[in-house]
Amino acid sequence: MKTIEVDLGDRKYPIYIGEAVLSDQILMDKHITSNQVLIVTNENVAPLYLKRLEESLSNASHEVLILPDGESTKSLDSLNQIITCLMEKKYSRTCILIALGGGVIGDLTGFAAACYQRGVKFIQIPTTLLAQVDSSVGGKTAVNHPLGKNMIGAFYQPCAVLADTNVLSTLPEREFSAGLAEVIKYGLIRDISFYEWLEENIELVIKRENEALTYIIERSCMNKAEVVAQDERESGVRATLNLGHTFGHAIETALSYKDWLHGEAVGCGMLMAADLSMRLRLLEQEQVDRIKALLLRANLPTKIPKGIKLRSNA
Ligand code: NAD
Ligand code: GLY
Repeated sequence: MKTIEVDLGDRKYPIYIGEAVLSDQILMDKHITSNQVLIVTNENVAPLYLKRLEESLSNASHEVLILPDGESTKSLDSLNQIITCLMEKKYSRTCILIALGGGVIGDLTGFAAACYQRGVKFIQIPTTLLAQVDSSVGGKTAVNHPLGKNMIGAFYQPCAVLADTNVLSTLPEREFSAGLAEVIKYGLIRDISFYEWLEENIELVIKRENEALTYIIERSCMNKAEVVAQDERESGVRATLNLGHTFGHAIETALSYKDWLHGEAVGCGMLMAADLSMRLRLLEQEQVDRIKALLLRANLPTKIPKGIKLRSNA
């Protein structure tokens, strides 16, 4: 097991990465310091991993809230459901919330933890690659408003992140590749030797070979942890984590957040950003081609979806 620390002074926390961390009772005992524990998960993840988590919580009594799958669960209604559950069970300020799922469950549960009684502890157990390398780390929590994504939220850090590489075995291929876009992003923004490693080893990653998985999650989290420690609230360097996201959001908006996954839009958006940089003479064509080749090998789209019209003022 690898451990990385997100160094935020008295709010610092560990990220544990490895096979079977979900079943690590010692790790759970260390971080579950309350007898009031609420696990929040969804109907897709619960049948796969809830039992495993409950078995490792042997010493703590707990409740479970299973929500519907999908982005629409990141809503004020779901937030209300979590808060109602906590209040009905008379959970105090020392309770702990556990998010078991992808970025949707993680963002929602984190925000609920930030709100309940002005802030209670929460643990992230991310089960998608995207959540393990990005959304579970760094404390961005939110729900969506009908007029905009992530519009209601808070910067609120978890007290631990447990990234179990075993759970990635059940992740659909498209979801896995979408997570890889964020992994490639770290190489592009600040870690060229990691980028070169990905170019050499992407096939091992695609095969989900455990050592390769542990390595990419570790290296991605290390990069994210360093950036977040420097600029927790995105007033400077943290904005580099948004590489490809401006073009990506444009694609997602044009598709009404349907058909393409977030990571797919970000992957294509990174290539569009590279292309723009080339037009501004900041990158060479050869470098753009290199980025495109890696995205293709990671099974990510490199052309904007058919039907989106490009408008030019030229
Ligand atoms: P998701 O949570 O919807 O999960 C994707 C799908 O995979 C879902 O159907 C889910 O049920 C399923 N799933 C999860 N784990 C599985 C497993 N182990 N095996 C099989 N299926 C599994 O999507 P996501 O891509 O994880 O996260 C997207 C969300 O994350 C968006 O809401 C986005 O805004 C947010 N996000 C947040 C940050 C941040 O910094 N907080 C960063 C990036 C994205
Ligand atoms: N996903 C971008 C960030 O956490 O800042």
